[in-house]
Amino acid sequence: MPQESAQFVFMTCRAGAESAVKEEVAQVEPAWRLSFSRPGFLTFKNTGERPIDDRKLAERNWTFAHAHGISLGKLTGDSLEDLAAAVWRHEGLAAAVARGALADIHVWQRESSAATEAAEESLVTPLCREIETALRSAAPDSLDKLREVRTGRRRATARNAAVLDVVVLEPGEWWVGHHRAVRRHERWPGGAIPVRLPEHAVSRAYAKMEEAIQWSGLPLSAGDECVEIGCAPGGASQALLDRGLFVTGIDPADVDPAVLAHPRFRHLKKRGKDVRRKEFEGVRWLAADMNIAPEATLDEVEAIVAHPGVAIRGMVLTLKFADWHTARRLPELAARVRGWGYREVRMRQLVTGGQEVCLVALRRKALRRLRRKLNRKRKADRQEESRVDAPHSTLPGPHF
Ligand SMILES: C[S@@+](CC[C@H](N)C(=O)[O-])C[C@H]1O[C@@H](n2cnc3c(N)ncnc32)[C@H](O)[C@@H]1O
Repeated sequence: MPQESAQFVFMTCRAGAESAVKEEVAQVEPAWRLSFSRPGFLTFKNTGERPIDDRKLAERNWTFAHAHGISLGKLTGDSLEDLAAAVWRHEGLAAAVARGALADIHVWQRESSAATEAAEESLVTPLCREIETALRSAAPDSLDKLREVRTGRRRATARNAAVLDVVVLEPGEWWVGHHRAVRRHERWPGGAIPVRLPEHAVSRAYAKMEEAIQWSGLPLSAGDECVEIGCAPGGASQALLDRGLFVTGIDPADVDPAVLAHPRFRHLKKRGKDVRRKEFEGVRWLAADMNIAPEATLDEVEAIVAHPGVAIRGMVLTLKFADWHTARRLPELAARVRGWGYREVRMRQLVTGGQEVCLVALRRKALRRLRRKLNRKRKADRQEESRVDAPHSTLPGPHF
């Protein structure tokens, strides 16, 4: 992609999280200056001497940006067809167009209003689909593959492919950019991995757990034991059960009867700290989703993972914020988790998440397992998209 135009970066985020995005950028990239900001959308100008490389940019993990890429600026107009034609004439895309170097198009809408249940439903609205169709039909000859009519559900963009991005701020205001689809969420418009909320889900936390697993690539396997602290009413536990895991849910509140009836689920109706450590022996994965301060969540978790005889390989922790300023404390919180022996700690404000961050941590052994699994998977089918393990029937398990 053309480096001469690579002086601006765009980011999309949950509406309301803009200050957290700005703080994160200020800490990590002090040479990037805020250029433009609207709820759910920001651009930064690179004032440093080092040009931004789109591949390196794609490899970066931003906690609060759902999606990011190189920004080429905005286009405004009343006619969808005219705007689509103007995108392809954009000088910032000229080199890529000439080389036929764009493999996909992502069009999505910024999340413009404060968080609501509906806001997480979809960033790709019918208008976005219409715009994508107009862009595909107007694609230049060098990119004729983009013109192919697509039917059925969208597939993940090929790994490492260059993607044209159009973020729709208003129907007549499009921000154009591009990114490389290196990380899992970068293969989907707006970084929104399509997670389903099945009819049997008893809470939206089902989708949140699915997104966390798919984003992080945690090497969970059917038959593994998992504990979830703060499990009621049980949506996240259901997502784990549907992947064939054994789940012990810990929560003083009531769990939905449908979850209680599952043969691989058991409920300990207690607070995390009141559970005997013995219950965690043999447990491989720990999830926590409590409506308490992030430090209090880590206190509960530390009391478990620091206990001799407990060997949790990986964790999915929800860190809830009373306000976005708590984001300042995230580096400390991540360092605390690393201090327990977790070599890989990553955080992301999930598209399906609320005013919170998902922290995923893995021990070294689990990382090796993940790499082996990934290598096997790539060998088996290089074309395959991020896969969801099929639900498994009841398996015999040590605790049940
Ligand atoms: C957001 S809800 C959890 C949603 C749940 N993960 C699901 O999938 O439906 C938060 C839960 O944390 C529980 N909780 C708060 N403090 C807790 C503690 N110290 N130990 C265990 N559960 C706790 C609350 O009772 C509440 O049910």
